[in-house]
Parts: sequence; C-alpha cells; structure tokens
Amino acid sequence: MQQTIYKNPSPQIKTEPPGPPTMPIVGNMIDFGRNPLGFYTYCARTYGDVVRLQFGSGQSSYLISNPHTIEEVLVQTGRRFAKGYQGDRLITVFLGNGLVTSEGDFWRRQRRLAQPAFHRKRITGYAEVMVAYTHRMVDKWRNGQVRDIHSEMLYLTQAIVSKTLFDADMQENAKTVGDALEAAIMEYGKLMTSVFHHVLSFLPFQITTPTEQRLLEAMQDIDNVVEQIVEERRKAPGDRGDLLSMLMEARDEDGTGMTDQQLRDEVKTLFLAGHETTSNTLTWTFHLLMQHPDIVQKLEAEVDQVLGDRTVTLADLEQLTYTRHVLDESMRLYPPVWAISRQATEDVEIEGYTIPAGSVLQMSQWTVHRDPRYFDDPEAFIPERWETIRADLPKYAYFPFGGGPRLCIGNNFALMEATIILASIVQHYQLEALPKQEVALQPAITLSPKGSLYARILTRTT
Ligand code: HEM
Repeated sequence: MQQTIYKNPSPQIKTEPPGPPTMPIVGNMIDFGRNPLGFYTYCARTYGDVVRLQFGSGQSSYLISNPHTIEEVLVQTGRRFAKGYQGDRLITVFLGNGLVTSEGDFWRRQRRLAQPAFHRKRITGYAEVMVAYTHRMVDKWRNGQVRDIHSEMLYLTQAIVSKTLFDADMQENAKTVGDALEAAIMEYGKLMTSVFHHVLSFLPFQITTPTEQRLLEAMQDIDNVVEQIVEERRKAPGDRGDLLSMLMEARDEDGTGMTDQQLRDEVKTLFLAGHETTSNTLTWTFHLLMQHPDIVQKLEAEVDQVLGDRTVTLADLEQLTYTRHVLDESMRLYPPVWAISRQATEDVEIEGYTIPAGSVLQMSQWTVHRDPRYFDDPEAFIPERWETIRADLPKYAYFPFGGGPRLCIGNNFALMEATIILASIVQHYQLEALPKQEVALQPAITLSPKGSLYARILTRTT
C-alpha cells in the first residue's frame, strides 16, 4: 500500500517531479561529477523541494530539500526506508558491515551494544583524554611555525577516538592511517563522481579499475591497523570498560559472540566515523576563523573570561556558548557529512508525488543549510545567528548529525570534543592564514578540504 510521507499543504495532482535534463545511460552523472555540491544546490533552487535525478540503471533518485519531508524520511527509516548501502561496493570497502551501513535486526543489535559507550555519563569520562591529548599536540607547537592544520586535527581526533573507545595508542600508526585515509577519500571522491566508473557499473561483471585498486590498497593499510587493535586485545583480554570490551564480550541468546570480521568492521566503522568528521569540523572552523578576525576576538574574549589560565574542564562547556555557536555555524556552512540517502522499501507519496519502491532519496545538508528560506545571508559565517534562530528554524533545516533512529551515535561525543579542542587552542594560540592558499572542497562520503590547510601558529600574548 502506498503511504503518504509528507502532504503538500496545497495539494494538487502531480505527475513526475521536475528535474534537470538527463543524458542516455549517464543520466545526470556528468553534471553531478563536475561539482556535486553545486549541482545539488542548483537542482534544489531551480526545481524545488522534490527533484528527479537519474544516476543508476533504472533506479530513480530524488533530491529532497523540504525539512519536514526530510524529518519524515529519517524518522521512518527502518519502516518505509532503508539506508540502502548493502549493494554499494564502494561504501562497503570503506566501512564493511558496521553500524553505518548495516540494516534491520543486525543493525539494531549492534547499535544496542555500542550505545552504552555513548551515554552522556560515559562520554563525560572521555573529557580528560580529549584535554590531555590536545595539550600533547599543542606542546609541540612553536611560535611562528607553519603547520598543516588538517593533518594536526586528523591525528588528534584519531588518537582521541582510539584511546577512549578502544584503549589503543595510535601515536605510532597516526601517519600511516592519516596518509591512507587521505588517499582513500581522494580515490573515493574520484569514483563517486566518475562517469566512467558509473558506466562500468552497468556491466554484468565486475572490473577493478586502477582508481578502485588504489582505494583498496589504502583501505588495506587502515584494515591492518584495525586488525592490530583487535589482535592486541585478544592477546590481553579482560574488561577495560571500553567499547571494544563491550563488543568483544557481547553474546547472542545462544551464547555466540561476534565473529572477528564483525568485530573488525565495527571497530573500523567507529574509528573512521568517529574521527574524520570531527577533524573536518575543526579544520573548517579554523579555515573560517582565519578569515574572520572579529569573530576570533569574540571567541578569545569568551574563552579568556570562562577559563582564564585554567585548563578547560567539562564543567566549563556549558558556559562556552559562543564557542559552541562558532562550531554550529561552521557545521552549517561546511557540514562534515554533506549528504545522506535512504532507499524507499515500498511505494510512498512525497509532497503529492508517487515515489516507487527502490528509489533513492538524497538529502543534502550542504544544500539545505544554505537555503535562504531558512537562513538570512546564508553564505555568510555568522555564529551570532544561533543565539536566536533555533526557535523558528524547522528542525531539519539543520541536520549535521542526521536524525531518526540512525541519528549519529557520536553526536554528543563530537560536540564535546570539538568544543574542548577549539577552546584549548584559542586560549593560547592564534592561527594565521598563509597568503594565496587556495582551499578546495573534497566532497566524498564526508566533506573535507582537498589536501592540506596550512596556518602559521602564533602564541597569544596577553
Ligand atoms: C562532527 C562530527 C560528526 C558528524 C557531523 C557526524 C555525522 C553523522 C551523520 C550525518 C550520520 C547519519 C548518517 C545517515 O543518516 O545516513 C552519522 C552516523 C554515525 N556516526 Fe557520526 N558524525 C560525527 C561524529 C561521530 C563520532 C565522534 C562518532 C563515534 C565516535 C560517530 C559515529 C557514527 C556512527 C557509528 C553512525 C552510524 C549510526 C547508525 O546508523 O546507527 N560520528 N554521523
């Protein structure tokens, strides 16, 4: 039976949703491939809140940009919608069958197992590690030095997630993982936007292209590190009270635990989802701050007033409201996850259109977060807007962490971590942009800067 997901307030008989012209076989791939962020935004602004797109063979895609519809789709995931990643070879290479990609009862069980590690009480215990590791990083910074902030943030968040969730020290592996991840994201970005790769997917047999091969090799380096984490724990088991212990000790009703493969996929998922996104948030935040000295001044004033010379503690976070608004605004302009999708498992009606089962619904944070209907002066970086905007804003006009049952499990972890790191750095350092540095966007599964983001480190003098 067809279900109404979101009724248009002024109903009218509608046929196919409007959309950009398509080309035979490649559909909209060429335009998407050239500039995924720009293409989605163009489609939403030109054709409206439901836009028909064509990417796969016979599979319809729709770009959904109405916050109420997005809410309905996300909330009804697991009933009328699935994540739909199971057949996606590329995402599976990245994340295996872990929390992000799995479905149904298997996902429910894994989420139930992991959830206690993210309870508010539990994550407050992680604050000390976040503070200590940030200090360990900045202790190496020297006045006047130029550093790549993108990799600094990547190594830092990687070390924090490994220590807090898996009680593992990543110092030795940080560079290997950082390099592999950067390579994997770049290759993934190429594949995601490649018309050639898209056409190959129509073939009844599988061909591994050189780009895919490079992606596989990069992921192998990450798999090796994950395997090492699991192996080391197997050698020295025992309850350390962390997420890895919980996953390893979990038993089904029949007494069976997770297989090694399941464990590795889950650790890899949490490790990758748990650091690259937060690292991007911080990198984009510094990129924005370096262009807005007035905002830096306000931020420093708040941090100085709340912390003085003290090291940040959990109790300070509530008072660091401007710091938090800087992060909210940064995630609005540069959402670390720039689009998510769901697959309809039955025919549904959306805003008066019939959307057939099997269709993929795309929802783009990048596009909605910059929609002038919800944000005044949407391209501008204005942290102050968050002082007043929340009450009027439709809930899903801002959804950096997704929503519904598949809401990011690490959202509170990430916000706490980003606030601690930002405040700790701003307290002692100013970051200065290097002249003529171009910062390009790399939209893959996440939205990172392409390559490095260099900054000159200046010690603050008071
Ligand atoms: C600023 C940082 C972060 C952002 C913007 C972010 C964003 C997201 C989004 C949008 C989703 C939903 C994807 C979808 O609906 O298709 C998600 C899911 C997820 N995130 Fe995050 N995330 C962040 C940090 C973290 C951290 C720190 C962790 C773990 C330590 C984490 C672990 C996960 C997991 C496991 C899922 C899948 C949850 C499920 O489906 O049950 N994320 N994240």
